[in-house]
Amino acid sequence: MSVKGRGLDPRFMQELKFKNNIVDVIGGYASLDRKGNTHWACCPFHHEKTASFAVNESEQFYHCFGCGASGDVVKFVQEIESTDFMGAVRILASRAKMEVPESNFDTEQAVLAKKKRDQMAAIMLDTAKFYLSNLYSGDKRADAHLQYISNRKLTPTTVKRFGIGASLDFFSLPDYLAGKGYSRENLLDTGVLTETKNGKLVDSQGGRLIFPIINAMDEVVAFGGRLLEKADFAKYKNTKETVLFNKSKTLYNINLLKKLKREQTIKDVIFVEGYMDTISLYQAGFKNVVASMGTALTKEQARLVKRYSDNVLISYDGDFAGQKNTLRGLEILKSEGLNVRVVPLPEGADPDDVVKQGKDAYQKCLDDALPLIDYKLLSLEKKYDLSRLEEKRKYLKEALKIVKEAESESVKEELLKGLREKTGITYQSLERDLNSIKKDEKKETVEIVVPDIRETSGELSVTDKAARFVLAAKLFSQKYAKDFDLSTIDFSSSVHKIIAEYVVERERENERIRPSELFEILDESCPEFNEILDLNYEDKLSGEVGEKFFLDSVKILQKQDLERKIESMNLAYRDETDAEKRKELAKQISELILKNKKLK
Ligand code: UTP
Ligand code: MN
Repeated sequence: MSVKGRGLDPRFMQELKFKNNIVDVIGGYASLDRKGNTHWACCPFHHEKTASFAVNESEQFYHCFGCGASGDVVKFVQEIESTDFMGAVRILASRAKMEVPESNFDTEQAVLAKKKRDQMAAIMLDTAKFYLSNLYSGDKRADAHLQYISNRKLTPTTVKRFGIGASLDFFSLPDYLAGKGYSRENLLDTGVLTETKNGKLVDSQGGRLIFPIINAMDEVVAFGGRLLEKADFAKYKNTKETVLFNKSKTLYNINLLKKLKREQTIKDVIFVEGYMDTISLYQAGFKNVVASMGTALTKEQARLVKRYSDNVLISYDGDFAGQKNTLRGLEILKSEGLNVRVVPLPEGADPDDVVKQGKDAYQKCLDDALPLIDYKLLSLEKKYDLSRLEEKRKYLKEALKIVKEAESESVKEELLKGLREKTGITYQSLERDLNSIKKDEKKETVEIVVPDIRETSGELSVTDKAARFVLAAKLFSQKYAKDFDLSTIDFSSSVHKIIAEYVVERERENERIRPSELFEILDESCPEFNEILDLNYEDKLSGEVGEKFFLDSVKILQKQDLERKIESMNLAYRDETDAEKRKELAKQISELILKNKKLK
């Protein structure tokens, strides 16, 4: 096989993991409680009151019985620091005072891409510093900016904390950057400069007040620029999308939220729309705030914020109610497992307006936050005049559809009682109407057929073979494997884990799977990987035979997964002294055993 590229030196990875004992690393983020061979903590990835996050020192892996998160020390850092594999490797290397042998594992292309990215990040940082220095340069043209800042009641501390700056004209920035030796191409690619028709470079934010947008790794990735005065063009202009800046994956103020998390548990994260809302709330002491920057929320943003808290408070402008796009964004948050509540604000006011009347005024709004479902009912109610029969019927029809989405019977009951009060219709009728609404058609579930083809020859264990087959089917995009989610399997070999992670990541991004990209992570001569690649040349990977093998393999892996889970839960059970918890564990273990039996 002639795939170009060099793998990450396995000896380096070995040393890295050796020097970063998983117990020490995780101990830096969560307080661990040792019981036998296992260390327990409240899971740093989801919020909980009793510890279900287990760190196994001898095996150097973690597993959360609550949310299912698991992996090795690299995976842990990847997750907790919101970074990718290489990012985690760098963090761990610096922790262990080791050099990352970059040139040894990066392909030439990757080295170039990284260089470019670094250059772009440097340009962004330089630009941010330049804007900031303008503000206090004493230049007359900065007066309007300073005046604006003071009109909006921002203190110098706040200005500094958010790195707010000023662009004074269109030409100083290009002049300043020209003296720094950056390439024209990179300057244009960052979006900070724009080329005019006659080939001149100008500041894309000419004359605006500047809000740097900083990612969770503390890199300046974009700028939001505000016009100081009303004009015909957009009030805010953001840097174009670049290698550094993908608006749908970014949240304004995520950098300070990350810092906050190190200082305290974040009970909930407040979502606002704008830069100024974020900054004003932060200044007033509501530091747990991020901004979606005026667009509908995405899955990526949901996942990003989930690293910090499971609870979000939506604090959008008072008139957002019922805006389809916004509501869809909130549904996305919900479907990513976040608990969503909506903060009602006075019509036409934004959080910045409210908090200016005092901290208490805003706190009161927060206290009045409603669960998403109640909020939807409330905004529906505002659309109709319930004193008119015709409108009342329409309202009821839509309201019942919303009630249907309630996750529990008790919530349904509560909501129906509310509807009874509003409409005067009896509870019984409402309930009957509710039950006559057809449930959303459930997604078809695929019945797993147990084929009797089972290969047991050779030295490889059955589960190893199964893992290789499943991974190969995914890597070479076999149709039958398309809908199977690899993240549901906990692979025991680290090579398998890496491959699975790669596939899951690609699928999540909706990107093509290219097996050769794995050579950026895995060693070229890695035998396990090569054997998986070789499966591509075997007939059994495709067609009906392939599908049968695949389903069989999945079962074997699920079984192994369950067995391992049962084993480690048994360990936990043995170590548990709290009677209540033991009972709970026993219940869970017997459930798993039952499930395992059914898989036979
Ligand atoms: P708003 O129009 O609510 O602005 O847009 P705001 O934050 O209250 O602005 P101020 O108080 O007048 O300064 C909310 C957010 O939408 C994005 C910005 O991120 C803004 O903060 N937006 C808005 C744009 O990107 N472009 C625009 O032209 C307007
Ligand atoms: Mn505003």
